[in-house]
Amino acid sequence: MTKSRDGGALVDRARPLDHQQAHEIQAYGQLTRLPNALSESAARQSVENLNQILSDTMVLRDLYKKHHWQVAGPTFYQLHLLFDKHFEEQSELVDTIAERIQSLGGISVAMGADVAEVTLIPRPPKGREEAPVQISRLLHAHEIVLKEAHTMARQAAEAGDDGTNDLLVSEVIRTNEKQVWFTSEHVVAVPLVRADRESARNT
Ligand SMILES: [Fe+2]
Repeated sequence: MTKSRDGGALVDRARPLDHQQAHEIQAYGQLTRLPNALSESAARQSVENLNQILSDTMVLRDLYKKHHWQVAGPTFYQLHLLFDKHFEEQSELVDTIAERIQSLGGISVAMGADVAEVTLIPRPPKGREEAPVQISRLLHAHEIVLKEAHTMARQAAEAGDDGTNDLLVSEVIRTNEKQVWFTSEHVVAVPLVRADRESARNT
């Protein structure tokens, strides 16, 4: 409380009310029902599946940024740009998947420590690796995401959750398949300057 110039009391109404605390309004894993014409079991299954794919997508996104920073060698510039492009696309997927979970009445996993508990993608070393090793790591992560996305898309369709099926097929699967193509072409061992005349002779 402060005194105004004429001596009257003035409540400091402009003071921010910080340091507030209260219980959570929804626990992780708890489902809140929305009028979305989906059965509770369908929504619950989709939330669970999507949190798995969200965790793996967050790790794949971060793997791309790590490799964007740490890549080395003659293909540095190409890979530096490509890895960042894929990072941006994976970031968009992260937001789409997380918001789908919320729209189903679930809670999206969000923080790194929680994501680390859920993801199936092996943890990379903190240090720097050669470009072919970075690429192998990325391709393995993509395959984990794609494998689960196919299974989950089918489960969503069978449960009547067409929205989740569509997201998994037209966004997660298509984006990951295209990134697999662009990334894996960098580890095809074709000659850079001199054509391989030896292999032509053998055919
Ligand atoms: Fe950058």
